[in-house]
Amino acid sequence: MKILLASSEVFPFSKTGGLADMVGALARALANAGHEARVITPLYRGIREKFPALRKVDWYFNLPLGRQYVPAELWELDVARGLKIYFIDQPGYFDRAGIYQENNFSYADNAERYIFFSKCVVHLARYLAWRADVIHVHDWQVALVPALVMQQKSEGWGNPPPTCLTIHNLAYQGVFSGSAFELTNLPKYFFNTEGAEFFGFLNCLKAGIAFADFITTVSPRYAREITTEEFGCGLDGMLRRRQKDMTGILNGVDYSEWNTTKNAYLSKPYSAGRMAGKKINKLELQRQFALPVDETIPLFGTISRLADQKGVDIQLGALAEMLNTKMQFVLLGSGSPEYERGYRDLARHFPGKVAVRFGYDETLAHQIEAGCDFFLMPSRFEPCGLNQMYSLRYGTIPIVRATGGLDDSVVDWTQNPRLATGIKFTEYTSRALAKAIRKALVLHSQPKLLNACRKNAMKADFSWEKTVHEYLAVYMKYKSERTKY
Ligand code: ADP
Ligand code: GLC
Repeated sequence: MKILLASSEVFPFSKTGGLADMVGALARALANAGHEARVITPLYRGIREKFPALRKVDWYFNLPLGRQYVPAELWELDVARGLKIYFIDQPGYFDRAGIYQENNFSYADNAERYIFFSKCVVHLARYLAWRADVIHVHDWQVALVPALVMQQKSEGWGNPPPTCLTIHNLAYQGVFSGSAFELTNLPKYFFNTEGAEFFGFLNCLKAGIAFADFITTVSPRYAREITTEEFGCGLDGMLRRRQKDMTGILNGVDYSEWNTTKNAYLSKPYSAGRMAGKKINKLELQRQFALPVDETIPLFGTISRLADQKGVDIQLGALAEMLNTKMQFVLLGSGSPEYERGYRDLARHFPGKVAVRFGYDETLAHQIEAGCDFFLMPSRFEPCGLNQMYSLRYGTIPIVRATGGLDDSVVDWTQNPRLATGIKFTEYTSRALAKAIRKALVLHSQPKLLNACRKNAMKADFSWEKTVHEYLAVYMKYKSERTKY
């Protein structure tokens, strides 16, 4: 099949979170399975310098955006057999210090930037000599693509391919003032309560839910959750109406990136059969964070965007309660200044036990995954979550709240000690998390049990080779339905 993917971030070119990992890995997995994947993404600052093999394509376009026309150029990179990336070059929009924001302030023209990007996606889909069988868009930034495709169909695009929207996080919907709808140049009838309108505002994700041929989200449990009022972020009614065209597919892991045997970021390789290297990584991590270097102290870690979703409030509470015991905690995160302050205060209260780093650091992320004994991920909600799956492969026992993809990917120690890969808790409270941490300390004090759990974790297989067929099955289904007409 020929699959055209579009995303505002794609690893290794740009990344703020799991969206980038997922799209980069899915595209590679499709190509590895013998299909053709092409990905469209913005040309952000620094990409050309970091990837000098990018080639300029002899194709300029000038697309309407409300009352103005905006020009763009195109670059491409052949990554592997069957995998090509297109970069939309519009320096005014994308040659900036951040992707979505700077200094914790979203760019004021994000509607304009990503409506324009969505238009570029549709333009390429329509006019590339390479004709896609399916257009697969990810999150609100490109969720207007299905509506734009429908519009182009009514303007003479004979038989456009079906569109698939993947919702990575329903909490981010791309909501802008109603006047931003003009930028889409869509007819007014797209802007109503069954379409792009949300209480008078433009809601990009809602438009995607309304007009995509089919919708996927990134875990089966999250697919169920978002049809409820509790997790629906105001769109549960709409999602229930589209339920027959919606499915949850658990994300995979790109084990060529996230592994412990061939990984230049790690001090020492290790595997389920040869665990000695994990200890070296732990000691090195303690050294790096200037914590007492001692193999016997249970070491907990978190790598996270510091956002409401991630359960920072209960984590701070639980750690404050637990840190009087023999344990250490390291954090790598960035996001809300208030949460950063919370962790900084925690480190001040527990010197020699807590160490924190703020900012984005890919290398350190691997080192924390490898060096820790336990990984804390107490999310309030979690569409899929990748770090718990990375932790499993690194033999770092995840402690997760049983929600979304966290619930789908971890087997709890108390529920099934023989097959356990981690520790789960349910209630969204500091007390429940503290209890889970206490369980972890018990597990840590029993090396036999800990090793058995680690072995199970490291053997768990979330490779894309297994998952990619689920996407292919839905692509096929909608493609053949389309060709029936
Ligand atoms: P989300 O996409 O909601 O942030 P995921 O668990 O799906 O959560 O993915 C997060 C991804 O971002 C992981 O690859 C994680 O390692 C990475 N990440 C998050 N924060 C940082 C950071 N401060 N530095 C480096 N990597 C980070
Ligand atoms: C979103 C979600 C996260 C998911 C990621 C990739 O950022 O918050 O749970 O793993 O997308 O799908």
